[in-house]
Amino acid sequence: MRWGKRRLTCHASLPLSKPNPALTAACRGPAAVNAATLTSRASGALRGRVRAPGDKSISHRALILGAMAHGRTDIEGLLEGDDVLHTADAMRALGAKIERLGDGRWSVLGRGALQEPKGIIDCGNSGTGARLIMGAVAGFPISVTFDGDDTLRARPMARVLDPLSSMGATHLGRAGGRLPTTLRGGGLKCISYRLPMASAQVKSAALLAGLNAEGGVEVIEPELTRDHTERMLEAFGVEVATSPEGTGRIIRLAGGQSLKGARIAVPGDPSSAAFPLVAALLVPGSEVTVEGVLLNPLRTGLFDTLREMGADLTMHNVRDQGGEPVGDVTARHGPLRGVDVPPDRAPSMIDEYPILAVAAAFAEGRTVMRGLAELRVKESDRVALMVQGLEASGVLVEEEPEGMIVTGVAGGNHAVRGGVTIETRGDHRVAMAHLVLGLMAQAPISVDEPEMIATSFPGFVELMTSLGGQIGGT
Ligand code: S3P
Repeated sequence: MRWGKRRLTCHASLPLSKPNPALTAACRGPAAVNAATLTSRASGALRGRVRAPGDKSISHRALILGAMAHGRTDIEGLLEGDDVLHTADAMRALGAKIERLGDGRWSVLGRGALQEPKGIIDCGNSGTGARLIMGAVAGFPISVTFDGDDTLRARPMARVLDPLSSMGATHLGRAGGRLPTTLRGGGLKCISYRLPMASAQVKSAALLAGLNAEGGVEVIEPELTRDHTERMLEAFGVEVATSPEGTGRIIRLAGGQSLKGARIAVPGDPSSAAFPLVAALLVPGSEVTVEGVLLNPLRTGLFDTLREMGADLTMHNVRDQGGEPVGDVTARHGPLRGVDVPPDRAPSMIDEYPILAVAAAFAEGRTVMRGLAELRVKESDRVALMVQGLEASGVLVEEEPEGMIVTGVAGGNHAVRGGVTIETRGDHRVAMAHLVLGLMAQAPISVDEPEMIATSFPGFVELMTSLGGQIGGT
């Protein structure tokens, strides 16, 4: 499996010792940087071709594996969002030499081992960063203290610390392993670990620790979750054995395998592409193409669901980009009908339920979304916040312990009124979903904490306005 086959030709070298405020500000776009809230309002047809920012999952992994590897890793298309910039800082503090060479072009010089950092590792808002780096750190005889923002401090970490403890790592921190917590790694032994929840983050943490465990590691996933860690480990020269097991699979790797620097071309993030694509499906007269979108089947549950709803969504120019399928996705406006989303599809679209709920608000009939226990422990309780925000905007929505049901306006006798300010609790996807809702609401919709959008989608406002969406600071 090869990643990013093209050789990079980099001229400028702009080392970033910490998140660069100028870079971050430029990524966020002027409207988002200065505004206390962002507002979207009814828009004419959206039209154009755009590129989604780099995939967040693959970007984190490229930096982490690059730092663990021997030699140089060249990355192009890296997502320069706040989450990933925190991971770059973390891996630098753990001993790698990391440089930004230009837009999305980064180099990582790994030492083949992680070193004890002098200070605390701040993962910002990023659960992926925190959990994967914990797994990586656990394999080395070093002590590392992890922290993050208030949102990350509230998220469960025991799910990662439990398997790492079974392997022999120790930790001291708050109840439930919540951050801040200090992890002491090294001397790990092999385990066979059955994932208690469908989480690629937990799987990845165990695999990364297993690289330096005597006898390696075996992870059993009863439901398939995104497989970017497995694919990328192979690109770094690690042998990963996978075999089917019921509806999931078993992943095994031998310990003591060293990683060799690689070339990684990061595809566009389908979780970000979802926002302009759903906006185009909803706003009459729209046609939008997002180029270079990752189409890994373990990430495309939203696209499958939208097509079942009758969406005019087509994939062109599907190609292999370093071992991952990538294509251009075109969305054209048209009617949607409500569907029952199979609960076992949740892992392949877990980050997309907020924007699916918005699409469902304009469909004909009910869209039933179940199997969403994991959605309650993301950057926010996304079930609760989406239900609150949709209800406040005039959408008919019912909350269930592990799901939500949205009744769309098409053919019905209610309307999406809007005219509200949504409390996002700093959740970037909740914010972007409601801004897309506002493009079709009778009155404008505002969201608070708009700066958080830059954690995953720097340039969201500029991209949406370039297509004709009415989104701006208030
Ligand atoms: C991610 C996995 C998912 C997803 C997150 C990124 C990853 O989380 O929600 O945004 O990169 O592995 P879980 O694996 O915990 O479900």
